[in-house]
This record gives sequence, structure tokens and C-alpha cells, in this order.
Amino acid sequence: MPLVNTKEMFKKAYEGGYAIGAFNVNNMEIVQGIIQACKELNSPVILQVSGSARKYAHHKYLYHMITAAEEETGLPIALHLDHGSSFELCKDCIDGGFTSVMIDGSHLSFEENIEVTKKVVEYAHSRNVTVEGELGQLSGIEDEVSVEQENASYTDPKQVQEFVTRSGVDSLAIAIGTSHGAFKFKPGQKPQLRFDILQEVMELLPGFPIVLHGASSVMPEYVSTINQYGGQMADAIGIPEDMLRKAAGMAVCKINVDSDLRLAMTAGIRKHLALNPTHFDPRQYLADGRECISAVVKYKIENVLGCADKA
Ligand code: G3H
Ligand code: 13P
Ligand code: ZN
Repeated sequence: MPLVNTKEMFKKAYEGGYAIGAFNVNNMEIVQGIIQACKELNSPVILQVSGSARKYAHHKYLYHMITAAEEETGLPIALHLDHGSSFELCKDCIDGGFTSVMIDGSHLSFEENIEVTKKVVEYAHSRNVTVEGELGQLSGIEDEVSVEQENASYTDPKQVQEFVTRSGVDSLAIAIGTSHGAFKFKPGQKPQLRFDILQEVMELLPGFPIVLHGASSVMPEYVSTINQYGGQMADAIGIPEDMLRKAAGMAVCKINVDSDLRLAMTAGIRKHLALNPTHFDPRQYLADGRECISAVVKYKIENVLGCADKA
């Protein structure tokens, strides 16, 4: 099958009480590591590209690697723009073969957010591309924009019906206490998510797919490997896995993971170079990084997302 949009994936995920993993990709080893895991577990997947990943690796390289992954496996794969910052960027990605885009107007006023989201939806829907919008602001760093914890804001459930109806989006990212990056809570702070907001949104939008950004669990084994081999990630804290599983059983159909991949790849490469100080062939250490990516994705599919055998 060619690359797919997210419509069918989300419908099945909602009905089945599981979530699809949306993994950020920046280079070939990351794409291959993710796809290897999805192939072994027969899982659908969303490969997402941020604006800065697109600048780093270039649109055509990413597009062709991801279509190659689809050709090789035949899995349902959606190619998604993560945190689209403008109509023009979304349009470029749609014109260049992406099957899904996010327009992130969460920093705008409610009316401006609806206006730009609706414009993207009109362009996307006429080309069979699905659109994710966002209401509420997460803390953390994304695409070079940093939002301090005190400036982050939870989604107001009272706004969601109007936003979805007027904009026409296919899925909605909401802020319930997750955040981007590897330092999601302060040391000693108890991780908490606002499941009351998710529950209220779910009741107001029955059957509608919700998206969770900033959802890495910051897996301790990779953090400790990094620290063991010269890194400094001591205070990294993520979202507890039981909370992610609970969200996946509710209306959350898409769980975004980037930081866990970064940590795993860095751990694999640091360990390889520390144990093999004479190695200088990038294929040797990148292969270990790719293995770690694959292991993380397999672990997520089986223990957090629940999407094995759903391809
Ligand atoms: O939400 C942001 C993603 O982790 C992508 O980050 O803009 O550094 O590629 P990036
Ligand atoms: P993490 O930083 O928790 O992996 O979140 C990634 C994300 O939301 C990408 O949009
Ligand atoms: Zn995000």
C-alpha cells in the first residue's frame, strides 16, 4: 500500500483502546530502527518530521527513505509533519507527499488558531491529507522555541468542541501536563497528568482521536548508560508508563516519542565508542545506535502502545 493518512489508523486505535506510536525521524538509522521493530511486530506507525528535522535532513531525503520503508514492508505508514508552524510549511509538506500534517497554532489566540488551522484543513482535505491541531501549550523545547513550565497552559475543555467543529481538524493535541524533552519534572516533583481534562474532552468529543505530545517516558536504562559512559543526564525524568497506557486506553490514539529515541541512540553510540576506542567507522557505532532505536520502539509497541499485530 502507498503511504496512508491517519484516518483509518485512528479509527481502529480508538475502537481497540490502543495508540499508534508517532516517532520523530532525522536520519536513515532512525528510520530503519523504527521500521525494523514495526516489521517484527506487524505494527502500523507514524513517522514524523519536525520543521528542524526537515532543515537538517532535507525533505526529499526523508520522503524517499520513508517511501522506501513502505515499499520494503507494506506496513501502514503515515508520513506526518510535526509542529507545523505556518500554512506555507504545511502546504510544502502536502505538496511534497506527506500524508498528514500538524498545524500548531497553540501559541496564537483562539480565533487566530482556528483561522490558520481551518486554512490548512481546507488545503489538506482536498488532497486526502489529515490534519492535527493543538489547543493548550506544553512546556519544554520544541523546534527552537522554549516554553517555561510556568507559561505552559492546560487545554480548556470548554473550547474543544468549538475548535474542532469550526476548524475541521481530524485529531487534536491537548495539554494535560506532559512536556517536550528529557526533563519533564523537577527532581523530587511527583509526575502527574490531568486525566480529568482528558476525560472531559473525551465526553465532549465522543469517538474523536486525541494526541499526546511530550510523551517519552525517559527510559532509565538509557539514561544510566549515557551517564555511565561520560554523559550528564542525571536529572532526566519522563512520563510514567502506566499513565501512558491509561491514556492509550482512553481517547488518545497518537503518542509522540522523540526524546526516548534520542536517549537510546546516544546511549548505544556512547557505549560503543567507550568500549571500542579504536573504532572510527561510523557504520560500527551507528549500527549500535540503530539497534537501540529498534529495541525502544519494540518495547513501546508491546508495553505501552498496544499496537502489535494491528497493521
Ligand atoms: O516536539 C518536538 C520534537 O521533539 C522535535 O524536535 O524540532 O528538535 O526536531 P526538533
Ligand atoms: P518527547 O520530547 O517527550 O519525546 O515528545 C516528542 C513530541 O511531542 C514530538 O512532537
Ligand atoms: Zn510535540
